[in-house]
Amino acid sequence: MLSNMRDHLLAVTEIQRALGAADYQRAADIAEQRIGLSSLESHGASHMAPFMPKPMQDIGTRMHKAASQFALVAQETGADGNLSRAVGALSKVTEQCVACHAAYRAH
Ligand code: HEC
Repeated sequence: MLSNMRDHLLAVTEIQRALGAADYQRAADIAEQRIGLSSLESHGASHMAPFMPKPMQDIGTRMHKAASQFALVAQETGADGNLSRAVGALSKVTEQCVACHAAYRAH
């Protein structure tokens, strides 16, 4: 789980770098594949979830959904140039990181 966490942080960094470079499609792809709903299989969510209390799982689900939502917004930003909307959508992802870290520890 912790290596998955480190990849989440790296992914957020890469997303911000892509946004800064106006590479919105890349920002969308990273978000969807590494944090979004498409990442669930690759990071073994179904193996980890049973070890988490239900409210913790729910925060994780909200994070995956927020990342997929961000990916859609980032693609729209590629068309309409509305960067502030994309940044706002990204904060909905990091809010879930913060919420879970504030409430849970691995040990
Ligand atoms: C569903 C809960 C949950 C969510 C959501 C979550 N984390 Fe974590 N994360 C944890 C827990 C639990 C730990 C272990 C903390 C501890 O035991 O001190 C952790 C640890 C980490 C660590 C430290 C890894 C290490 O090597 O020690 C990083 C970095 C991290 N998370 C990044 C993120 C980022 C970035 C996000 C959002 C994109 C995120 N996490 C979302 C639960 C979560």
